[in-house]
Amino acid sequence: MTPVSGQPLSGQAPPRDLASPASTGSGFGTALGLCCRECGASYDLGAAYACAQCFGPLEVEYDFSAIRRQDVEAGPNNIWRYRELLPVPAGAAELPNLNPGWTPLHSADRLANELGMRKLWIKDDSANPTHSFKDRVVAVAQAAARSLGLHTLACASTGNLAHAVAAAAARAGMGSAVVIPSDLEAGKSVTTATYGGLLIAVEGSYDDVNRLCSELIGEPITTGWGFVNVNLRPYYAEGSKSVGYEIAEQLGWRLPEQVVAPVASGSLLTKVDKAFGELSLLGWLEGDTSHRMFGAQATGCSPVSHAFAQGWDVVRPVKPDTIAKSLAIGNPADGPFALDAVRRSGGAIADVSDEEIVAGIRLLARTEGIFAETAGGVVVATLRKLLAAGDIDPAAETVILNTGDGLKTLDAVVDHVGPTAVISPDPDAVIALLGGMS
Ligand SMILES: Cc1ncc(COP(=O)(O)O)c(C=O)c1O
Ligand SMILES: [Zn+2]
Repeated sequence: MTPVSGQPLSGQAPPRDLASPASTGSGFGTALGLCCRECGASYDLGAAYACAQCFGPLEVEYDFSAIRRQDVEAGPNNIWRYRELLPVPAGAAELPNLNPGWTPLHSADRLANELGMRKLWIKDDSANPTHSFKDRVVAVAQAAARSLGLHTLACASTGNLAHAVAAAAARAGMGSAVVIPSDLEAGKSVTTATYGGLLIAVEGSYDDVNRLCSELIGEPITTGWGFVNVNLRPYYAEGSKSVGYEIAEQLGWRLPEQVVAPVASGSLLTKVDKAFGELSLLGWLEGDTSHRMFGAQATGCSPVSHAFAQGWDVVRPVKPDTIAKSLAIGNPADGPFALDAVRRSGGAIADVSDEEIVAGIRLLARTEGIFAETAGGVVVATLRKLLAAGDIDPAAETVILNTGDGLKTLDAVVDHVGPTAVISPDPDAVIALLGGMS
């Protein structure tokens, strides 16, 4: 079965530092190799994701010594402006892809006012090509797949990744093989199916789907496939750093004091924190570089929030039951790293009920004109909860992430909203209605 791990270059090699002198000349740009996040063993760049020595997750290492902020600023208005900070070739922007990123950072003054906050921003990643932040991670994984000579983009998905993989593969003329739980929202499964790739619905949870995909790697039938969030995970995960880079650049190369991110596998939160750390090490940031990371989960799938509350370093798996299906990962691969980023930065993680999620979606829509998917509702509701608990400082500048579009999760709100009235096409009916309301 599955050859999950890479061959170590050396026994217990320490992680290389950010600016170590080396070059690759490879299809991975400034990336030097892969490194185990647990034991520091080093590996060649390849379709490996787990350490052969300790099974720890592998992460990309770079040589950032020649990168300048001016070059980033002169780049295109998409994630490829950060290509030298990502494991992609210099020409990544020219290869067919969906060109995600550079999404708006809105000043959310009306929501701030309602919540009693001094300064709040919303990073709106629903503006990406397939309407979620997953286009970022897929674009980076797609570049890696090409560099590795793979012909098919595959994934295990809670929905948004499915859509992003199918669309990116279609744009590039690659094959796609998407595996999802069979109970996903139509806004995610129907959209994905329309791109025409292979879509396999599994009678089981996301965690079952993820395990199935891990077991398929190495089977002859999947030769040439890159599972973006399994064997290409080190590259895929780096794509989420672009959310952090953009927030800092859009604020004028400053960090916000607080960030609230949704947590499913825990990768996004971890990588936004990593991006802030890299920019700080590169010396590109103005002002204070301290920031606090906050995580948001649905109570019906809150293993990371639970571990945070219990003071645990490990995350105990749960069986998800929530309307926030995009966040329904019961056994989150990067949960411990998200916990670490939150604790190290002095933040917190909380979870909210399905009712609070719907209220969060409606509050954001009513105050800012942004219709978020359930993950966005989780973030807004968690922001409100952490403010009430005194964990988030209302006077500190805060950025919240909206990672997906509400049109994909209409099911969540359909029973809660509707027409103010249904009337006949008659002015008197309108007059009677408005008169009755005043
Ligand atoms: C809309 C949305 N937001 C947030 C996340 C969480 O991402 P991560 O798995 O990196 O924690 C997901 C994951 O599927 C998602 O679909
Ligand atoms: Zn290891």
